[in-house]
Amino acid sequence: MTRVLNGIVAVCPNLGIGKDGKLPWHPVRLSNEFAHFRKMTSTPSVAGRQNVVIMGRKTWFSIPEKNRPLKDRINIVLSREYKTPPAGAHYLAADFSSALKLVDTELAERADQVWVIGGSSLYKEMMESPGTRRLFVTQILQQFDCDTFLPEISPEKYRLLPEFPGVPAEPQEENGIQYRFEVYESI
Ligand SMILES: NC(=O)c1ccc[n+]([C@@H]2O[C@H](COP(=O)([O-])OP(=O)(O)OC[C@H]3O[C@@H](n4cnc5c(N)ncnc54)[C@H](OP(=O)(O)O)[C@@H]3O)[C@@H](O)[C@H]2O)c1
Repeated sequence: MTRVLNGIVAVCPNLGIGKDGKLPWHPVRLSNEFAHFRKMTSTPSVAGRQNVVIMGRKTWFSIPEKNRPLKDRINIVLSREYKTPPAGAHYLAADFSSALKLVDTELAERADQVWVIGGSSLYKEMMESPGTRRLFVTQILQQFDCDTFLPEISPEKYRLLPEFPGVPAEPQEENGIQYRFEVYESI
């Protein structure tokens, strides 16, 4: 089945996405940025269905326990080591293609959009997958110390869309941190 693969990430100027298992700007909270993440990933395009979020094991544990699983979304966690889903997760998959197969088989009747929400290796797999891919990127316009990175968004493989429904085009600022929303689509 052909479906769009969506990725969503907030990234520092040096492509950093994480530090010590947390977001680079921790403990600063970007509440509106998080609300954007929640809106984009939880709003299905078909009434009665739910979107799927696919994430690595470390990203799962980077979510505060009280917020797991991410509500109104089917949460799939990837691990090569785990034999059962971590407490609270809906599904476990041993690799990315198994996660997508799960969406197209067992979840086919109730899943809508697929969102890859990190970390590094999953973004890489998603960005290198066949078919249409969209990357919803929050460009954080300030550098923080990072130990986890997004692969480069190649201009030969991705184009920046001039606008996208539901994504604010104007620059944002919260807690003194400036950022802007961008959407890239595979060419
Ligand atoms: N800025 C953002 O938008 C954003 C988004 C997400 C995460 N983050 C940050 O990024 C960091 C976590 O990301 P990360 O890259 O370090 O780790 P991660 O990708 O979330 O988790 C890595 C683990 O996931 C499992 N895994 C990953 N790819 C797999 C695959 N293809 N097949 C099977 N299992 C797979 C493995 O688990 P096992 O070891 O159990 O086998 C691997 O050790 C945190 O700091 C978090 O805050 C930031």
